[in-house]
This record gives sequence, structure tokens and C-alpha cells, in this order.
Amino acid sequence: MFSIRTMQIGDYDSVAALMQETPGISLRDADSRESTARYLERNPGLSFVACIEQNIIGCIMSGHDGRRGYLQHLLVHPQQRKKGVAHALLESCLAALEQIGIHKSHIDVLKTNEAGAAFWQHQGWHKRTDIERYSFIRSADANA
Ligand SMILES: CC(C)(COP(=O)(O)OP(=O)(O)OC[C@H]1O[C@@H](n2cnc3c(N)ncnc32)[C@H](O)[C@@H]1OP(=O)(O)O)[C@@H](O)C(=O)NCCC(=O)NCCS
Repeated sequence: MFSIRTMQIGDYDSVAALMQETPGISLRDADSRESTARYLERNPGLSFVACIEQNIIGCIMSGHDGRRGYLQHLLVHPQQRKKGVAHALLESCLAALEQIGIHKSHIDVLKTNEAGAAFWQHQGWHKRTDIERYSFIRSADANA
């Protein structure tokens, strides 16, 4: 059985390793230890890890801008999938956001991530067809 607790910066190495082991997930500069520490400081109590004993087998990160929640990096170790781990992580996140008055949240899902898309739809999330996301990189580094 797994348990869920809030993510601390001390979990960074385990979470980064989980990301590296997950096909289709790429680590960007914004996933550095320093950026992750800043993210967790700005959004205390809103990111979670799932553990079996001391081992981290899943994670989710979230933050907000005062109005809306933004979820990212939901992933579960391939050997621990289809056991409700992602659902439990998501519930922890949404409950924590709700407690601070955030009732609507967004997540970006790569168009190629069919399993991810199926998960969100089964969780009752609504796929937006009315919005296109635009991004801009103000850095020489395309992996910023
Ligand atoms: C998407 C992802 C996070 C789902 O993780 P998960 O822990 O397997 O998800 P859950 O177990 O909560 O739910 C997944 C399915 O298992 C089913 N399930 C849950 N508990 C179950 C159990 N005890 N026994 C059997 N099936 C179960 C759920 O009903 C769900 O089925 P559905 O998708 O047909 O509705 C995981 O596949 C993953 O890490 N993918 C790679 C990273 C990724 O794509 N992340 C999303 C980015 S947007």
C-alpha cells in the first residue's frame, strides 16, 4: 500500500530520478534543483509524493497565481500504475488548492500523450478546444 505526503526539496533527487526513468518526460532547466526549491517555496503544501515505505513511486506538483491552479509533473513509476496512485495524488493536490480558495485548475498535456489524455478525461477533466497556448523563450537556451 502507498502513502501520500507533501513534497519537500529533499525529495528532489528521487523525483528527478523518477522523471528520468519515465519515457516521454524531459527534464528542462526549469526542473533544476534551484528552480524546484523556488517553486516549492512559492507554493507551500501544494506538491505531493506517493511513497511505498521510503521509496518515492509518484509525484505531482502544483502552484497557483491567486486565481487558478496549475498542475504539472504528474507521474507514477511504471510498475506502480493502475493502482489509483495518480488519482490519490491528484485528489491531494485539488484538496490543498481548494483549501486556499482555488477551485479551477489547468494542466498541459502533450498531444502525443494518449495515455495521459485518457487519464485526465477519466478523471472528469475537460479538454479545451477553445484555447491555443503561446510560449516565448527569453534566453539563448532553447531548453530553458
Ligand atoms: C498518467 C499516469 C500518471 C497515471 O498513473 P496511475 O497511477 O496509473 O493512474 P491511476 O491508477 O490513478 O488511474 C489510471 C487507471 O487505473 C485504474 N485503476 C485505479 N485503481 C485501480 C486498481 N486498484 N486496479 C485496477 N485499475 C485501477 C483507473 O480506473 C484508471 O483507469 P482509466 O485510465 O481507464 O480510467 C501514469 O500513467 C504515468 O505516470 N504516465 C507517464 C507520465 C504522464 O504521462 N503523466 C501525465 C502527464 S500530463
